[in-house]
Amino acid sequence: MTNNSNKAPIGVFDSGIGGLTVVREIAARLPGEDIIYLGDTARVPYGTKSGRTVVAYSRNNAAFLVSKGVKMVVVACNTSSAVSLPSLTGEFDVPVVGVIEPGARKAAAATKTGRAGVIGTPSTIKSSAYKRALEAASPGIMVYTQACPLFVPLAEEGWTEEDITELAAERYLAPMRESGIDVLVLGCTHYPLLKKTIRKTVGDGIALVDSAEETAREIERVLTERGMLNPQTGPSSKRYYLTDVSDTFVSVAGRFLGEKIEKIEMVDITGAAV
Ligand code: DGL
Repeated sequence: MTNNSNKAPIGVFDSGIGGLTVVREIAARLPGEDIIYLGDTARVPYGTKSGRTVVAYSRNNAAFLVSKGVKMVVVACNTSSAVSLPSLTGEFDVPVVGVIEPGARKAAAATKTGRAGVIGTPSTIKSSAYKRALEAASPGIMVYTQACPLFVPLAEEGWTEEDITELAAERYLAPMRESGIDVLVLGCTHYPLLKKTIRKTVGDGIALVDSAEETAREIERVLTERGMLNPQTGPSSKRYYLTDVSDTFVSVAGRFLGEKIEKIEMVDITGAAV
């Protein structure tokens, strides 16, 4: 079942908690939109899995959201966006928006030195999706990349400013600090949760770009273009689905979104098919 009505919710998915960074920006920019969020906590992390597996998981996630009648699917996961966006776009008849191009556009516009850093999961970095998107947005740009696999479990654990997080950040980011970049793309939707630690590690001279804000802008653009913005002015609703119990989700999510999550629904989406 698909739903193109402007009153239908926007569907957002990530492997876990990271996509909430995108939910926050959508809610700030488009307060009239209802949102259905799916965190695939049973199968997180995606970033250390093969492209084939991530595509299969992403198809399940999108099919589940579409079965709930969403008018658009937002792939609020860089790993999924990097490897599965073309297949999802071809498969569903609602618009599918990813996070990589918006983030790359913002970073390309922000750099003055023409040197941009990108951090992400091993799969995202290996895919070179950011490198391609940055080079398309700004030919000649120098791109420095670093995979930071420990950041996702640290964020899922809610350890956003602990000593262990600072140690991991120092180990991953010291070379970035020396490379002459003036922009660092947080190329994983989990990483904005660690923004304070990342900022402390790289210093104030490097702008941190997270794609969430730019993605919300892209969502607004696509919905406006298709006449699909929700006209409601009353309070909008958010529903949260997870594929497995996550003790930290409610507390970290509440802290991050600045609102209490009343209810989480558990779902088995392994059978969700297009
Ligand atoms: N938050 C996701 C991303 O943006 C995936 C993290 C993971 O599951 O490894 O890449």
